[in-house]
Amino acid sequence: MSTTMQPSELESQLAALQDEAQEAIAQIDTLDALEQLRIKYLGKKGSLSQVLGSMGRLGAEDRPRIGSLANEVKEALQTSLENKRIALQAAAIEAKLAAETIDVTMPGVFRSQGRAHPLTSTVDRMIDIFVGLGYTVATGPEMETDYYNFEALNFQPDHPARDMQDTLFLPDGNLLRTHTSSVQIRYMEENDPPIRIVIPGRCYRRDTVDATHSAVFHQLEILAVDEGLTFSDLRGTLKVFLEAMFGDIEVRFRPSYFPFTEPSAEVDVRWKGRWLEVMGCGMVDPNVLKSVGYDPEVYTGFAAGLGVERIAMVLHQIDDIRRLYTSDLRFLRQF
Ligand code: DAH
Repeated sequence: MSTTMQPSELESQLAALQDEAQEAIAQIDTLDALEQLRIKYLGKKGSLSQVLGSMGRLGAEDRPRIGSLANEVKEALQTSLENKRIALQAAAIEAKLAAETIDVTMPGVFRSQGRAHPLTSTVDRMIDIFVGLGYTVATGPEMETDYYNFEALNFQPDHPARDMQDTLFLPDGNLLRTHTSSVQIRYMEENDPPIRIVIPGRCYRRDTVDATHSAVFHQLEILAVDEGLTFSDLRGTLKVFLEAMFGDIEVRFRPSYFPFTEPSAEVDVRWKGRWLEVMGCGMVDPNVLKSVGYDPEVYTGFAAGLGVERIAMVLHQIDDIRRLYTSDLRFLRQF
């Protein structure tokens, strides 16, 4: 057994340890360093343990007092460590909040919003009106055969009406459809009456491009076939459409001719002081009904072909059809 030790020696060691530790805790500024300090002073092999290691060398009568003194030092240091930990954590949160402060007065990042092209929004609106009247949407190919584009629509091989449409023929004898009327035939071949369809689509003609003509343009075809349909039904339907589309606008029906309708008419609207043709229409010719196997004694039908560009122009006061194809953002952003 080693020599006995004076309690005063341990007392002063404990006091020195406490002073040194408190001083060190006060200096610390990170949680990691604080943990290092805790291990250094209060850990299993820390300074306090080492001091207590020499307790055995005290006289028995001194041990309880020095033991409780050591406990006080330990508790005091634990309290200081804990207070410091709380203070450092609070400071860390403060710093994080300060760094993340949002300046609500800062200008935002501008993201321009996309929108539908005026032709798309126009045809969507047109379709919506007819869907509201009970019509459904049908489509067909842009490359067509002579049969669907002309023959089944009652254009005779040498019919002068074929000249009405400057057709773009393909090398294989097919053609680019000149109107969406071709889809009438395709649809009727596959379906029985009653029929109520709208057919949106792109059409092609060898037209000279000017302010109101384009070689590529869009139509919306209307077809209704049922028992007992009359020209009044056609007029009523188109009237509802035109009012829903344009509101209060001057409209006139003009007698016309199409091989696939009898009687036929064209519809003009008053636009910029003159009449602008926006559609052709008529009662489906009995020959057309026969070509798809419908009995014209039982069924009648009406049809119309609406020019989407023309209607978009009237709707949006667009003075030149070419603006609809040039993708000028200054123009398109207005819609
Ligand atoms: N297909 C004709 C054209 O492109 C437009 C047309 C006229 C369509 C009368 C029809 C119709 O359905 O009944 O000029």
